[in-house]
Amino acid sequence: MNDSEAFERCMAVGGVAVFPTDTVYGLACDPDNRFAVERLYLLKRRPLAKPSAVMFFDVELALESLPELGPRTRDALGRLLPGGVTLLLSNPVGRFALASGDDPSTLGLRVPRVERLAGVRWPVLQSSANRAGGSEARRLEDVPELIRRSADLVIDGGELPGTPSTVLDLRRYEEDGTWSVVRSGAVTTAAVAEALDGQYHFDPTTYLSMIRSDVPLYERLQEELVAASGSGAGRVLELGTGTGETTRRLLAQHDGAALVGIDSSEDMLAVARAALPAERVELHLGRIEDPLPAGPFDLVASALCIHHLLDSEKAALFARVREALRSGGRFAFGDVVVPVDPADARTPLTDGFDRPSPLADQLKWLAEAGFDAHVQWAAGDLAVVAADAV
Ligand SMILES: C[S@@+](CC[C@H](N)C(=O)[O-])C[C@H]1O[C@@H](n2cnc3c(N)ncnc32)[C@H](O)[C@@H]1O
Repeated sequence: MNDSEAFERCMAVGGVAVFPTDTVYGLACDPDNRFAVERLYLLKRRPLAKPSAVMFFDVELALESLPELGPRTRDALGRLLPGGVTLLLSNPVGRFALASGDDPSTLGLRVPRVERLAGVRWPVLQSSANRAGGSEARRLEDVPELIRRSADLVIDGGELPGTPSTVLDLRRYEEDGTWSVVRSGAVTTAAVAEALDGQYHFDPTTYLSMIRSDVPLYERLQEELVAASGSGAGRVLELGTGTGETTRRLLAQHDGAALVGIDSSEDMLAVARAALPAERVELHLGRIEDPLPAGPFDLVASALCIHHLLDSEKAALFARVREALRSGGRFAFGDVVVPVDPADARTPLTDGFDRPSPLADQLKWLAEAGFDAHVQWAAGDLAVVAADAV
């Protein structure tokens, strides 16, 4: 009997196995066998209220077993799996309830690439092969002896990479395409972003130095935007808050304002959340292509975000911004544009991610949306626009 057959048989008879994954040694049992699940948890001294992932060794089988997943999520699974990620998925019908701990609405899914278990057609409940709170086992001898002796099957996979999986929250992915990293691990955020968005993703730790080097007039752009935003706004909506660089300048300028910020990157927002005054700022994970938070706002402001949209999306956004503003309210944005003279195109752009449009087009879309707009400042391929809702 090979390892795959032995493993399947162990699961079938309600056994517990120690086995190698693509990250660290794991413990597995049949996810629908209460007796086996309780035994696995007891061996680890893990409270039953804590969830475990359900692991498949075949992506197709995982997709077949979770028919309620929507098309967008299925597509994401196809791009991320097999691989060193644990995916948190919404679980509307409560599948694999014994693995869900005290949150039956969420399912953790793993599909690793484990050659010696290729062909296993049995989903398993899996957890790392260590005592709760202990360190994860990279080698079989690092698995606590009691666990090894009590298991019904032990498969030696030699020395493993040792980095745990990256945990990704995809529970809102179907709805609005957003995702976040819950725990960093074997797969980098950049690799996830490339797989999910097909595009570059901002890294909050390097953002400021990167943007200052890409946009040498970054500080000036912020100043001009803040000047274009006027003064005395009470309710402000910010599009593309990022790490909060524009936000804190807007809060200083409009010192009585409460601000709602949206951004599609949870990683960027986490930095903003830590830096901004919670009593004045409400931050939402979301895309500016989707419905905006309910108005009316006195001011809608944005720096270096709108250029990520396609032309038609920009025109549609301007119309939604007009609806979100009170009459007489202001829309101020500073961004990269397609300059009249191609020699002025200095800002480095990433294909499919940065999509600047000519300033003249944007002024036309603003007029169509019901704005009286003027250019507040322009330099090379950067511009700040102030537009009043008429
Ligand atoms: C260049 S940063 C600008 C951040 C900040 N305003 C500043 O000037 O430093 C662009 C931000 O827009 C966000 N973003 C990009 N596309 C977006 C979209 N479609 N919807 C919402 N946010 C988006 C990115 O996640 C990023 O945080």
